[in-house]
Amino acid sequence: MSRTKILLDERDIPSHWYNVVADMPNPPAPPLGPDGQPIGPDALTAIFPEALIEQEVSAERWIPIPEEVREIYRLWRPSPLYRAHRLEQALGTPARIYYKYEGVSPAGSHKPNTAVAQAYYNREAGIRRLTTETGAGQWGSSLALVGEMFGIEVRVYMVKVSYEQKPFRRSMMQTWGAEVLASPTDQTEAGRKILAEDPDSPGSLGIAISEAVEEAASRDDTNYSLGSVLNHVLLHQTVIGQEAKKQFEMVDDYPDVIFAPCGGGSNFGGVAFPFFADKAAGKDVRLVAVEPASCPTLTRGHYAYDFGDTIGLTPLLKMYTLGHDFVPPGIHAGGLRYHGDSALVSQLYHEGLIEAVAVHQLPTFEAGVQFARAEGIIPAPESNHAIRACIDEALKCKETGEAKTLFFNLSGHGHFDMASYDKYFSGELEDFEYPAEAIDEALHHLPKVAGEG
Ligand SMILES: Cc1ncc(COP(=O)(O)O)c(C=O)c1O
Repeated sequence: MSRTKILLDERDIPSHWYNVVADMPNPPAPPLGPDGQPIGPDALTAIFPEALIEQEVSAERWIPIPEEVREIYRLWRPSPLYRAHRLEQALGTPARIYYKYEGVSPAGSHKPNTAVAQAYYNREAGIRRLTTETGAGQWGSSLALVGEMFGIEVRVYMVKVSYEQKPFRRSMMQTWGAEVLASPTDQTEAGRKILAEDPDSPGSLGIAISEAVEEAASRDDTNYSLGSVLNHVLLHQTVIGQEAKKQFEMVDDYPDVIFAPCGGGSNFGGVAFPFFADKAAGKDVRLVAVEPASCPTLTRGHYAYDFGDTIGLTPLLKMYTLGHDFVPPGIHAGGLRYHGDSALVSQLYHEGLIEAVAVHQLPTFEAGVQFARAEGIIPAPESNHAIRACIDEALKCKETGEAKTLFFNLSGHGHFDMASYDKYFSGELEDFEYPAEAIDEALHHLPKVAGEG
């Protein structure tokens, strides 16, 4: 039998991040200010350090990774690539299935790959406090983890429904020294406005972002840090796909199809973009973003300029969106409950260069359990989305007899999500199709931008 774990050495940790903008057929749609005009980098200096703003707008293909960041990456990188022999056998598929396991990071997901970089550039810029939002708690944990390493205080606005569903994610953040608040809070204007309208608001990523941005913009010593969506975040995550390419070389294989769960898009971008470089050069590889049917941003959202947060404090990004005032149902993949998507992922999807599918919650847990019983690792509910889509493709291969190479990013483990698994086992989880009327309604709330439909 061929290898199960395909491992790289620490010296193989990438020396540069890969910027997909260099290989996109069209330049990215620019972010717009409140007046509908493209914003200059200056508009972002109240909440981001200059180095990250430069990365946000860069068209350079390769951006060097600072040595201090690579040194911290060594704590868990390179991450292993696995050949899922046992899952293949369980499915009886001729397909070869591989997964890259990002759950080996201390926080348990891919998110620290960008947290380290963001904390580094903020420390270099003299920033001593960072605010952020978190849904599932994965991102908040990741920033909490690195805050201490760079001497930066971290304050996390955690979506209230997740705060209640996942008390141990909160304890984890506190262990690493972060302060965690259930959002909406009464400590920001944004939070007070939401609470006045709905005192029982379950919160949303959009609301938590409004709170974190408002606080960062109002204090000189404080910046804001985002765990997904923005170009620089996707850039930092490309260590995943770059390592995977080397690992595939080691076993003389190459994926036909790549699957990744997609919330704000950083995990998808991280694993898929380095392969997009090959696709742009003529290679045949399918890149599939997998999202929840209850939050179907790419598959059913509008491609339009919208705010990144609920209150409308961020610049306008051209992206697939369900409307910035979208409050998603309390599904158990908290990290995928975001109304928008990365502008880069959105544009590539709009231009037909990548694919997207939406899957229901129950079949994702079924896939996660099947995976855990075959491969051992208990996946995060977000990761179960990619596993579902990959298993479906492997079962198609079984029907057709095709021995395709399938690859998915196992973006995190589910050790802090066992309450969700409990609900699945006790039959309390439900599927929820986001209603068409709500999607139509969102159109009426999108900001009006000159020249847009
Ligand atoms: C384990 C896990 N996988 C995937 C995602 C989705 O990531 P992204 O927002 O980068 O698409 C998240 C987001 O929190 C996550 O926690």
